Amino acid sequence: MNSYRIAAVPGDGIGKEVIAAGVEVLQALAERDGGFKLDVETFDWGSDYYKKHGVMMPENGRETLKSFDSIYFGAVGAPDVPDHITLWGLRLAICQPFDQYANVRPTRILPGIEGPLRNVAAKDLDWVIVRENSEGEYAGQGGRSHRGLPEEVATEVSIFTRAGVTRIMRFAFEIARSRPRKLLTVVTKSNAQRHGMVMWDEIAAEVAQDYPDVTWDKMLVDAMTMRMTLKPQTLDTIVATNLHADILSDLAAALAGSLGIAPTANINPERKFPSMFEPIHGSAFDITGKGIANPVGTFWTATMMLEHLGEKPAAECLMRAIERVTADPSLHTPDLGGQATTRQVTDAVIAAIHGDN
Ligand code: NAI
Ligand code: MG
Repeated sequence: MNSYRIAAVPGDGIGKEVIAAGVEVLQALAERDGGFKLDVETFDWGSDYYKKHGVMMPENGRETLKSFDSIYFGAVGAPDVPDHITLWGLRLAICQPFDQYANVRPTRILPGIEGPLRNVAAKDLDWVIVRENSEGEYAGQGGRSHRGLPEEVATEVSIFTRAGVTRIMRFAFEIARSRPRKLLTVVTKSNAQRHGMVMWDEIAAEVAQDYPDVTWDKMLVDAMTMRMTLKPQTLDTIVATNLHADILSDLAAALAGSLGIAPTANINPERKFPSMFEPIHGSAFDITGKGIANPVGTFWTATMMLEHLGEKPAAECLMRAIERVTADPSLHTPDLGGQATTRQVTDAVIAAIHGDN
């Protein structure tokens, strides 16, 4: 029997609530399937750990994670710790050294969910956003001088490398090719940003030659927000830089009904390091502890994790269970306009898993 070691890192706020729910669902799935076993170890890293130890995770944290097959991540962020410390101290501290350069964000309107766009049916919005996850605007290049003085200066430098852009472009073309429509939109801002973004466009055209079966086009990021909103059915696979895709994928999540539903995978395609799976939302301190966090994004990302591990039937079983539950409005959490709790949604998904045949 296949056995996988999963490192659960719930992090902060509702991260703890949704990952606990996700682990329950995964175990129910393994039990039902009988073909694989999950050995889940949970790590208490995050802002509480930071307040006690001055770091978001122990120094050997990454070394510890290396031996796992996958990382199941909640969210980081606390009201009383600066966001750049929590983000760089844990989430990016895992993503970057593990070279999880492909961030994959599927977006669909699930059954029973009403998106905010009038006249847009579920079939009109079915996207995969591929986000460059290792360089670009979030490379961490830059600095501050003359702090606090009137002449203080800060730079935030975007880094685009030929190797980095080529590998994410290939990854995006592969995903586009694997989907029925074989359609890719490459997003940049190459009119105003005339160095890195122009190289990005050039590399897209080069890589495209290896994918004659994929239709592709280019969009400027500002115009892209309009196309996503007004003509969602003209899009399928989308590739964009770290910053642009970060913003576009929050828009995508909102257009599909709720941030609470949206999943993401941080993939190291070469499998030299474990990949990391997380809902795209943050720690949501406004609802922490209330038991009403929507766990669907965390469940959906679990399907991506199972698929990455090679357990496709289990991934499909879980997706069917999720869709059966979202189809029932009495099982919607408050972010979807309902009154259900995290507990009720989790129990319903587990019941649907056991009832699946
Ligand atoms: P957020 O995603 O935590 O929340 C935005 C809004 O969506 C809130 O009103 C929240 O209640 C709601 N929401 C989010 N997830 C939900 C869920 N599963 N169910 C129901 N409602 C949900 O973003 P926000 O408020 O900007 O940031 C809060 C903290 O999270 C900050 O410290 C931020 O830095 C951090 N953050 C961390 C991320 C990560 O770990 N990947 C991603 C985004 C934000
Ligand atoms: Mg974001």
